[in-house]
Amino acid sequence: MAAKQSHTAEEIQALLVSILAEALKIAPDAINVQEPLDNYGLNSAQAMLLVTQAQKMLGFEVPPMLLWHYPNIEALSQRLAEKSQDLELQVEDTGVAPRTNLPAFKTTTPDLSAEAVLDPNIRPASTFKFTSTLDNVFLTGGTGFLGAFLIHELLQTTHADIYCLVRAANSEEGKRKLKQNLQQYSVWEEEFSSRIIAIPGDLSQPLLGISTEGFEMLAANLDAVYHSAAMLNYVYPYSALKTSNVLGTQEVIRLASAIKVKPLHYVSSVAVFESPAYAGKVVKEQDDFDHWEGIYLGYSQTKWVAEKLVKIAGDRGLPITIHRPPLIAGHSQTGISNTHDFTNLMIKGCLEMGYFPDVDYMLDMSPVDYVSKAIVYLSRQKESIGKAFHLQHPEPVSLKILVDWMRSFGFPIQLVSYDEWQAMLKNVTSQDNPLYTLRPFLLERWSQEELTIPDLYLQTKRPIISCQETLKALAGSSIVCPPIDSKLFMIYSAYLISTGFLNVA
Ligand SMILES: NC(=O)c1ccc[n+]([C@@H]2O[C@H](COP(=O)([O-])OP(=O)(O)OC[C@H]3O[C@@H](n4cnc5c(N)ncnc54)[C@H](OP(=O)(O)O)[C@@H]3O)[C@@H](O)[C@H]2O)c1
Repeated sequence: MAAKQSHTAEEIQALLVSILAEALKIAPDAINVQEPLDNYGLNSAQAMLLVTQAQKMLGFEVPPMLLWHYPNIEALSQRLAEKSQDLELQVEDTGVAPRTNLPAFKTTTPDLSAEAVLDPNIRPASTFKFTSTLDNVFLTGGTGFLGAFLIHELLQTTHADIYCLVRAANSEEGKRKLKQNLQQYSVWEEEFSSRIIAIPGDLSQPLLGISTEGFEMLAANLDAVYHSAAMLNYVYPYSALKTSNVLGTQEVIRLASAIKVKPLHYVSSVAVFESPAYAGKVVKEQDDFDHWEGIYLGYSQTKWVAEKLVKIAGDRGLPITIHRPPLIAGHSQTGISNTHDFTNLMIKGCLEMGYFPDVDYMLDMSPVDYVSKAIVYLSRQKESIGKAFHLQHPEPVSLKILVDWMRSFGFPIQLVSYDEWQAMLKNVTSQDNPLYTLRPFLLERWSQEELTIPDLYLQTKRPIISCQETLKALAGSSIVCPPIDSKLFMIYSAYLISTGFLNVA
């Protein structure tokens, strides 16, 4: 008979309360076990501490994702106690101690097709007449990476005033945030300032958090709606992202459909094809994306559901265009990029480790100037209405080529087998290395085959995204996707080094 290993929910709860109290430097009785963990404002290091201490006590792996899946300490403790008891039974049945790194918790994927329901009251309120003249445009996501370049492109190529939804207490603060963001990406031009109007609001609120009168005023006067905002969080589950990404999209559709019907240009993602059903298959722009089973990331799940809502709106008569970027990389001329994005953090982390995994990955990325120019151009063509576009790079390159270039620029890095790299990742203990915070996400095992996220994105598991129809639609413009070559990487590296993000010493 094996030694007792299981712990009761009460024991686990007491432990979690004491760790949390210590981390937050408050008395244990100030912790309410039914309070959502989110409300305690844990940073990544505190969350890691909670997880590591719980693991020590329980003797099995506790994926940090659980902190988001289980809303409070009480529910989390119950789940951990169930697991702990399961493991004890396993020992009793087999006499064999369970693996301590169990991929123990399968997160359940919600039935995404059941989620894809658009409010039946949303219908185009009038007939739509295409016009290429834009006087008033609404844009979400203007404080984000792509949003900054969309605003810039709209300012350059139209005469429209741009009404930007911003999370801010008032329009002055909203304008400040927009200005700061455009400045950060070097696309702020004072002469255009008066054409950028901040609309305080929030995607996660009914009517986007705008007053009914304000919403109606916008609905009656806008000529087009660009929806680029979303919460890009690769750790949160669907439930945590739904209000912003799915219900927010529904509110944007409501705005586009109300009073004066205006075209909705929706920024989706190639992630809508992440179901294993598309693995190895060529997917074209106008193909259906009905498969959702096996999409693992909550973020990708929300993008699938949100695009379905946009499609339903299109079927009800709303003029829509759908733009699916791959990873959005830095500007091809200035190298300016979003240093918080996943690719930059991975590259920085691997450089600090000195090792890249030798895996079959294609760098599916397009420079932000290409993505923003293409979206604005395509959105203004009558023939685009009702269509989807793939802003995929027409000639992606492999990760190995990137590593070769980096070596030739003098970065001391080596390729090691994927297993070796994963083992090294477990030893990353410096909190300054971005891989430290990404580690649980990269090492967690998902899916029935218990694959990690990097496994899931291996080339053989991905679809082949065709962009032929998009290239044809862009043929009449001067917009060309810059090649991914050593020159582009030189530009990107120079920017990342000049900002101190990458250290070459
Ligand atoms: N980046 C990529 O590689 C990539 C790839 C494929 C598709 N996409 C899609 O492209 C779009 C833009 O991505 P990005 O890289 O520009 O993202 P980003 O830099 O993270 O910006 C996200 C924007 O969404 C806003 N937002 C988030 N939640 C909101 C809410 N509840 N209410 C109002 N605004 C909210 C943010 O506002 P705050 O400033 O207030 O946070 C920010 O302006 C997204 O739809 C994304 O899904 C991106």
